[in-house]
This record gives sequence, C-alpha cells and structure tokens, in this order.
Amino acid sequence: MKIAPSILSADFANLARDIHTVEAAGADLLHVDVMDGHFVPNLTFGPSMVAAIRPVTNLGLDVHMMVDAPGQWVQAFAEAGADTLMIHAEATAHLYGTLQAIRTAGCKAGVVINPGTPVSALLAVLPIVDQVLVMTVNPGFGGQQFIPAMTAKVAELSALRDQQGYTYAIEVDGGITDVTAPAVLQAGADILVAGSFVYAAADPAAQMAKLRRA
Ligand code: DX5
Ligand code: ZN
Repeated sequence: MKIAPSILSADFANLARDIHTVEAAGADLLHVDVMDGHFVPNLTFGPSMVAAIRPVTNLGLDVHMMVDAPGQWVQAFAEAGADTLMIHAEATAHLYGTLQAIRTAGCKAGVVINPGTPVSALLAVLPIVDQVLVMTVNPGFGGQQFIPAMTAKVAELSALRDQQGYTYAIEVDGGITDVTAPAVLQAGADILVAGSFVYAAADPAAQMAKLRRA
C-alpha cells in the first residue's frame, strides 16, 4: 500500500514545511490537485506550483488534473517536473491521444473517473495507462465524505487487471481515513490519497501511521 498525501489540505503559506513533514513520515508520493475553475468549481495550482515544489522534495509528484481539455497542459506540467499526470475521462474527447501524449512527454499516464462514470468508460484505454484513479468523492474540494459505492469500481478494476494482465496501479481519492481505507484496500487499491485526514490533524505522521495500520 502506498500513501499519497494531498497538499490541497496543507498550509500553503508553509508548503515546503508541510511537504517535508509527510516525506519524513514515509509518504510514498505527493498528490497535487490541479483545478481550473471550469471542470471543477475551484481554483488551485498551475505548472509553476509544480516547478516550485519539484526541488523541495524527492517524492514523486502525482499530478491530478481536474481541468477541461487537459491536453493543452501536458507539456507544461511535464517540463515542470510532474512524474505522473492524471487526466479525467470526462474532461476530453481525446482521452486515448492525450494519454499517449503524456507518455511521449516522459510522464506516467493516469486516467481518473468521477463518481458518476463507470469503469466501462475506460476499457479502451486500460492497456495504455500506468495508473487508474477512482474518485471516491465528487472532485473539487478536500474534506468531503467517502462514497462507499465506489469500492465496487476498485474491485472491478482489480479483476480486469488480473484477467487481462494489465499493469496499472489503482488509486483512490476522496474521504480516505483509517475507517474508509480497509474496504478499498481489500477491493484492490494500491495507492491511497489522503488530504484532510493527514493535514487537518495536529500530527500528520501519526495520521499516516493510522492509515498504514488500516
Ligand atoms: C478532491 C481532490 C482530493 C482531495 C482529497 O477533489 O482530488 O485529492 O485533496 O481530500 P480529502 O482526503 O480531504 O477528501
Ligand atoms: Zn486529487
């Protein structure tokens, strides 16, 4: 199991400090939530934020692009230092091509589905992705409640991976805590994104230890 703390819930005025806290506590990846105010009703980071973070940590940067027409940003985020670039299936009519472009740009390619989108929408791209992210809340904000019905999608992706010999990692994002993590892990999730559970607590390291015990 890997833990990817989401800096969406970090203190932006002390971002390097908050990144070092989770890195020292054994984070496996750093999850960066990019929002454009169109695909989701919130605005966060652009490529310059990724470029600013890159020299501050050795953690892989797991960049979650909640933006319309993500293809236009692939090159900029790749050059900024993203390791994995994840795009929403709902955000582009050119899903296959944009995933190919991400790989050509030298990043791992990930695809994301909103709660209302079925795994079947991904069948054509599963052979070419490194990661599949199942949203377990509606994207846009941290601190929302986990939607239990999403666990079935994780199980479906895990079964497909076994049957077809695919190699993608399965990631879940939204409302992940020590209480909600066991079910998604049992269903086959490999990477847990956790924002508020880690950062809204007094001791982020203790929160991450709780997740590992889950
Ligand atoms: C939500 C973001 C998440 C967010 C999760 O749109 O994609 O990565 O940071 O926050 P929590 O863990 O608080 O639900
Ligand atoms: Zn995210």
